[in-house]
Amino acid sequence: MNPETQMTRAYEYMCAFHEHDTTGHDIPHVLRVVELATHIATLEQPADHFVIKMAALLHDTVDTKLTNATTAVSKLQAFLSEIGVSSQNATHICFIINHMSFKNGQNNDITLSKEGQIVRDADRLDAIGAIGIARTFQFAGHFNEAMWSDDASLEALTKNEVALEQLPPSAIKHFYEKLFTLKSLMHTDTAKSIAHERHQFMQLYIQQFFAEWHFQPDT
Ligand code: ADP
Ligand code: NI
Repeated sequence: MNPETQMTRAYEYMCAFHEHDTTGHDIPHVLRVVELATHIATLEQPADHFVIKMAALLHDTVDTKLTNATTAVSKLQAFLSEIGVSSQNATHICFIINHMSFKNGQNNDITLSKEGQIVRDADRLDAIGAIGIARTFQFAGHFNEAMWSDDASLEALTKNEVALEQLPPSAIKHFYEKLFTLKSLMHTDTAKSIAHERHQFMQLYIQQFFAEWHFQPDT
């Protein structure tokens, strides 16, 4: 099978996995990650575009939040072998996919190849900015989390004076446990610069959110 056909098959595999998703891991999320990863790859030093695109396309088909990860990894390995991806590339792709996710920071110490760093950056970029905010509220809605629990002031959150683990789950809590940390976790310069802009937008958004949460009439 030539690489183009392999890519088409991977696209179909991904679509079948994500088609009914309402948790923020839908097909458009995956396609944005492919697009961002491709963009980063063209601006960064040479990297293997086939591995990057394959890993980006398939990255959420083994997420523990969406599926039984162990079964999903075996299924993915069998699929890559069935479409004729070399065992070296398949091992590389699976390693990236297994180690790229945030997992509360647990995966941050794992050294990834240039290709892995690019796909990880792309996935993280899609978790911040306007789209990242939308995905966070979508995820919270899907898993019956509140928008916000009102258990801390914006000032306390901003100054890190809150023990986050003591707050009940909510979309706004997630900004502080993850979204605002991602800017400094980017690997590539290209992603760092995109993240900077998206981070500023989230800060503005949070200001406005809290201003509306408790209405303060002009005096
Ligand atoms: P990763 O693959 O990096 O672990 P996730 O699968 O955790 O990313 O997240 C997918 C999307 O859902 C992201 O936009 C993320 O910020 C959001 N999300 C994850 N956990 C929560 C949560 N507890 N509350 C709200 N949004 C969440
Ligand atoms: Ni993803």
